[in-house]
Amino acid sequence: MSDTTRSAPQPLYRDPAYSVTARVKDLLARMTLEEKIGQMTQVEKNSIDPETVARLGVGSILSGGGGNPDENSPAGWLGMVSELLNAARQSRLGIPLIYGADAVHGHNNVVGATIFPHNIGLGAARDADLVRRIGQATAAELYATGVRWNFAPCIAVPHDYRWGRIFESYSQDSALVSRLGAAYIEGLQGEDLTLPFAVVATAKHYAGDGGTTWGTSDMIFPAMPDIGIMERTPFFIDQGDTRLDEATFRAVHLTPYIDAVKAGAQAIMASFSRWNGEKLHAHHYLLTTVLKEEFGFSGFVVSDWGGIYEVSGDSYQATVDCVNAGIDMSMVPYDYRGFISELRRAVERGDVPLARIDDAVGRILTVKLRAGLFEDPGIDDRHLQLVGSQEHRALAREAAAKSSVLLKNEDQILPLDKNQPRILVAGQWGHDIGYQCGGWTVEWLGASGDITQGTTVLEAIRSAVTAETIVDFDPDGIFAEEEDILAGVGLVFLGETPYAEGFGDRADLRLGQAEIALLERMRRRCQKLIVVLITGRPLIISEQMPLMDALVVAWLPGSEGQGVADVLFGDVPFSGKLPYTWPRHMNQIPRSEDSQRNPLFPFDFGLS
Ligand code: BGC
Ligand code: BGC
Repeated sequence: MSDTTRSAPQPLYRDPAYSVTARVKDLLARMTLEEKIGQMTQVEKNSIDPETVARLGVGSILSGGGGNPDENSPAGWLGMVSELLNAARQSRLGIPLIYGADAVHGHNNVVGATIFPHNIGLGAARDADLVRRIGQATAAELYATGVRWNFAPCIAVPHDYRWGRIFESYSQDSALVSRLGAAYIEGLQGEDLTLPFAVVATAKHYAGDGGTTWGTSDMIFPAMPDIGIMERTPFFIDQGDTRLDEATFRAVHLTPYIDAVKAGAQAIMASFSRWNGEKLHAHHYLLTTVLKEEFGFSGFVVSDWGGIYEVSGDSYQATVDCVNAGIDMSMVPYDYRGFISELRRAVERGDVPLARIDDAVGRILTVKLRAGLFEDPGIDDRHLQLVGSQEHRALAREAAAKSSVLLKNEDQILPLDKNQPRILVAGQWGHDIGYQCGGWTVEWLGASGDITQGTTVLEAIRSAVTAETIVDFDPDGIFAEEEDILAGVGLVFLGETPYAEGFGDRADLRLGQAEIALLERMRRRCQKLIVVLITGRPLIISEQMPLMDALVVAWLPGSEGQGVADVLFGDVPFSGKLPYTWPRHMNQIPRSEDSQRNPLFPFDFGLS
C-alpha cells in the first residue's frame, strides 16, 4: 500500500461499522454507469482475462458444468479463482467479484471433492437435518477453493419423468421440496454469511421449470465437439412451457420459493422455461411483482446461461425486456461485450430507467456486503484439505444409505448375510464411479469410469463381506467358467447412463434390451436375484418385476458407494421412501390421476 492510501480517509462503503444500506448508498454514488453495468454482468471464466475483469469491474465470474481449471484439483481451483478475485480488487473501486459454480451435489466439478447423492435421493431420505449438513459440507468445500456462490438448490417440482432434470429436484411434493430446499439454503449460508465457510445459495429455476409440457421446448443445443457434443440436439421438455392457471402454478411451483426467501436465499435464478407461453426471463409480473414485491425477496435475480437471449432474436430488445422485467445480473457467458454495450445504449436512450439499474446494482452490492466479501477476500489456501475430507465422505455415505429405497423383498432376502460362500455381481453400474455420480460430475453431462475419487458399490461389497466370501464381478453377467454352477445370490446393477438438462429428455423410460437380457441371464444363474437401480428417475420395470427377488433403488448415490452396501448388508436399516410416484407404464407419464391411483409403487412407498 502506498502512503497516500494509508493517509486518505477510508471511504464509507469500506467501513463495516456502517450498515449495509448506508454502504450500498455510498458506493452507488461513486459508481459510473459502466461500473454499474459491470456489476450486472456475469462471465464464463474462459471467456475473459484478469485484466479485462479489472478494467470492466465485472460483478461475477462463473464456472459452468465442467468449467474446470487445466489442473483440476482443489489447489488448481483456488489458483484459478483467486487470480480473478485479485483482479477485481484492482478495479477502480475495488469491488470484489463473486465467483459462482454449480455445486449441485457437492463441489462436483472438482476432482477429489465429495460427491453427495443427487437431490432425488435426498428427497427419498426425507431428512432435513441431513440436507442441512450436506449444505454445510458443500459450502466448506466451495469456500476452500474461493467459490462463494453456489447455483443450488434446485427447487423444481417435476411432474414428467421424461424431463432430464428430475434428479436435480427433491420430489414431486411441493411441501417436501420446500422443507428440504430451505434446509439446504440454511446449511449453505450458515447462521451468518460473513463467517468463514458460508456460501451464497441460489434457489432455481424460477419458476415452473418442473411443470413444462412434453414437446414444447424450443431449444436446439448446438454441436460443441470440445465437450463431446457432436451434433445439434433438440430438447423436448427441458426449457419448455408450463401450462397452468395461476392458482395451481402458485400452489405447486411458487410455494418452495416462499420458503426459500424465508430461509434467506440471497440469489434466485430465472428459469429458461415459459409460463403459459411467456418466457420467465422477461416476466415482470413473476420476477418483480410476485417475487420481489409480494414475497419480499431482497437479494438479486440472476439469469440462466445466456437466458436473456432466448426471449427474442433481437438482442437489444431482449436485454431491455429482461432487465426491465427484473433480471439483476445476466449470465452472459461468452458475449459479455455485447451485453455491456447494449445495456449502456438502453440506459442512454431511456429504454431502461437508471432507477432500475440502481436497484439491480444495489441488490448485487447488498448481497456482496451481506456475504462479507469486502472484508474477507476469500483467498486462503489453508482449507484445501476440506475438499473430499473423510468427514464429508462419511456424510455422503450416510446420505447414500438413507436415500436407498427398498421396493421389493421376497422371503426377506435382504439384508444379505456377510458370510455367503459366493456372490455374483453384474452390471457396469455396480462398478463405475461416473455412473453412480451421474450428470454434473466433473463434466457437465457426467461421464463413465474413474472420473474422480470414491468407492464403487462393488468395492464396498468386497470390503463388507467376510474373508471367505467370493465376490465375482462381470459387467455383462456372463461369468464364462462354471456355466453349470448356480450361485446362491446374485446382484444386478442397472440404470441410466449420465446426462444433464435437455440431454436427458427421454421419450421412453423402459429398460433397454441389453439390460433386460442381462437381467434374464442373471436370473438363470442365481437362486436369489437382487436388483439395484442406479438412476436419476423411476424407470418402467413392471414386466421385469417377476424376475427379481429384491429390488432397491439407490438413485445416483455419489462417490461413496459404501452407503449402498451398508443397507444391502443391514449395517444401516432401509429407511428411504419414494419421493416420486413410480409409474407402471409409459402412459402414466406425465403424472395423472390414473398414475396416482394405480402406480407400480405409490409416492412415499418404501419397505424397511
Ligand atoms: C443451467 C443452470 C446452471 C447454469 C450454469 C444452465 O444451463 O440451467 O442450472 O446453473 O447453466 O451452469
Ligand atoms: C450449461 C453449462 C455448460 C454449458 C456448455 C450450459 O447450458 O449449463 O454448465 O458448461 O452449457 O456450453
